[in-house]
Amino acid sequence: MTDAALLLDVRGLTVEYDVGRHIAPLRAVDGVSLTVAARETVGLVGESGSGKSTIGRAILGLAPIKEGNISFAGVDITHAGHRERRRLSADLQVIFQDPYSSLNPTRTIGQTLGETLRVHGETGRGEVAHRVAAMLERVGLPADAAGRYPAHFSGGQRQRIAIARALMARPRLVICDEPVSALDLSVQAQVLNLLRELQDELQLSYLFIAHDLAVVRHLSHRIIVLYRGRVMEQGEAAVVYARPAHPYTQILLEAAPLPDPDAQRRRRLRRSNRRANAAIADAENGCPFAPRCPFAIEICRSVRPRLETTSSGSLVACHRWREVHDQTEPTDTGAVTGSRS
Ligand SMILES: Nc1ncnc2c1ncn2[C@@H]1O[C@H](COP(=O)(O)OP(=O)(O)O)[C@@H](O)[C@H]1O
Ligand code: SF4
Ligand SMILES: [Mg+2]
Repeated sequence: MTDAALLLDVRGLTVEYDVGRHIAPLRAVDGVSLTVAARETVGLVGESGSGKSTIGRAILGLAPIKEGNISFAGVDITHAGHRERRRLSADLQVIFQDPYSSLNPTRTIGQTLGETLRVHGETGRGEVAHRVAAMLERVGLPADAAGRYPAHFSGGQRQRIAIARALMARPRLVICDEPVSALDLSVQAQVLNLLRELQDELQLSYLFIAHDLAVVRHLSHRIIVLYRGRVMEQGEAAVVYARPAHPYTQILLEAAPLPDPDAQRRRRLRRSNRRANAAIADAENGCPFAPRCPFAIEICRSVRPRLETTSSGSLVACHRWREVHDQTEPTDTGAVTGSRS
């Protein structure tokens, strides 16, 4: 079955890295399913090492897929070959955290951007120069940027260049892997606004990866929370922010400062419960979050929680989501303002 509006469809993705001849492979992604629809932004969040970039790389054909399927626009691309990948790159692009390492320092911005067009068959010099200039202007860079080298630009400008390069071929889906994490807060907001405007103008879809829930909040329609390579919670952004059903989502949300003293007191209490629970052993068969979870009980150690649908329509992998969900007070998290729906 293919859904025309469904651009990306990842099912049961498992990725394992070989880490040594006599050591078991490292399972970085464990049975993850996710979708991105046309013109949708899906925020993929979780702390460092949770497998976010690995999912992005698997979609781009750059990670060792052990199990599962990846479809793009209804076509199975799980094991797409070199030629198919090249064709696919017109529709599927990526923006990384550190544009400096992905921009060739010996080529001008105009050469780098023009190359993308030539890869996709546009060879007329006038047309290439025209489209490069138009794109540079669109992402807010000066007209003379085309003749300059990456070293000439600030971090925020280089990220604008990376965005311009990704968009040159007019893709349908852009994987944004922590694209603003290395930028100052004020510059972050500008780049996020630019990405949002471009989405509307160019009808783009984003898979937006971030370790910080606050970053994806204003951009995402849906949120997926990852922990140790597994989906912990998945749902509409407004719902996940207002009433998180998974203890880990709550903790990620709590990482943002709270002005309310009562909320701070409740947070301190939960922290001390968490420390007490840190003694619980981590079991492969149980919940991966149990050692850090303030709600952990006996069953959490031995039975792996499956994704269940909550009363607010989210999916959550937690034996105790009902209690977690019921004790969440929307005011705790600043409610739904700012999320997209
Ligand atoms: N090329 C690799 N070889 C071995 N292990 C890797 C490789 N890339 C990532 N990992 C490991 O896989 C896990 C997930 O990494 P990653 O996907 O980069 O997480 P995130 O982007 O969420 O920080 C981590 O434990 C990381 O150390
Ligand atoms: S299953 Fe248990 S340990 Fe895991 S998040 Fe839920 S309450 Fe916590
Ligand atoms: Mg990463």
